[in-house]
Amino acid sequence: MSQVERLEAEAREAIDNAGTREELVQVRARFLGRKGSVAAILRGIGELPAAERGPVGAAANEAKQKIESWVAERRAALEASGRAADLAEHRLDVTLPGAAPPPGRLHPVTRVFRDVIAFFASMGFAVQDGPEVETDWNNFGALNFPDDHPARDIQDTFFVEGGTVLRTHTSPVQIRTMTGRTPPFRFIAPGRVYRHDSDATHTPMFHQIEGFMVDDRTTLGDLKGILHAFARHMFGPDTELRFRGHYFPFTEPSAEMDFSYRGGWMEWGGCGMIHPEVLRNCGIDPERHQGWAFGMGIDRTAMDRFGVPDLRLMFEGDVRLLEQI
Ligand code: PHE
Repeated sequence: MSQVERLEAEAREAIDNAGTREELVQVRARFLGRKGSVAAILRGIGELPAAERGPVGAAANEAKQKIESWVAERRAALEASGRAADLAEHRLDVTLPGAAPPPGRLHPVTRVFRDVIAFFASMGFAVQDGPEVETDWNNFGALNFPDDHPARDIQDTFFVEGGTVLRTHTSPVQIRTMTGRTPPFRFIAPGRVYRHDSDATHTPMFHQIEGFMVDDRTTLGDLKGILHAFARHMFGPDTELRFRGHYFPFTEPSAEMDFSYRGGWMEWGGCGMIHPEVLRNCGIDPERHQGWAFGMGIDRTAMDRFGVPDLRLMFEGDVRLLEQI
């Protein structure tokens, strides 16, 4: 009996001293394992005097249960203090202000595009996309440029390969949209265009919006009325619009348009009645259908609206610019 008592005392001490879960596992094995102390006592019972066998067996089993429950208690305590140490080490101050990622912003050009699209959508125009790499036919040929036209010169056009170019204007979207379809059409086509020049007021990539309308009766008067309404929408209710006679191979008559701006005029783009040859190139009979088109630069409008002083700043991708807008 005293051996069992001693064993309990030893186990208690060893369990209390176990500093880690691994140590505790070893302590438990030492006392409760198949080759452990309790098992040894139980094995020795047969050699005891008959009267002692029962009480010693009972005491040994009791000791086994006690040790088991001490081990469990100790395990729980070790786990709790381990977690506390962990928490202390990786302390997190939840009252600190968070590091919020900066919100994204729309580029000024995107904002102007959206505004323009909303205006023309309200007049029943749909948006048409076109690729930035175009065929020579869509960019020039179908638009009635003669083969030796200077716009095809290496000075102005970025040639890609296999007869394709970076589109020099959004007018090829007219060709893509009209070919194989029957009027009426009312479309706008916003997008990037490319020309071979670069200085404070020109970048090799810039943005245009093409607009065109074709049916059996629309006139230059509709064009001017719509553009004037558009100019007033963009630049204020007192804005005036003026046409200056001009030449484009794909419109006849053609004009350049300006809007009134700070006591003077700001050049805005080109326009005119779509040339019969262009309609014919798209499979449309110019005896039955007629229409007009315009194409305007959008970057200066965006610069003016958001106070950006230099065109090149618009396309450098510096977030500090966007943050100021
Ligand atoms: N595509 C012409 C340009 O980029 C503009 C234009 C479009 C003129 C439509 C007339 C009609 O200069």
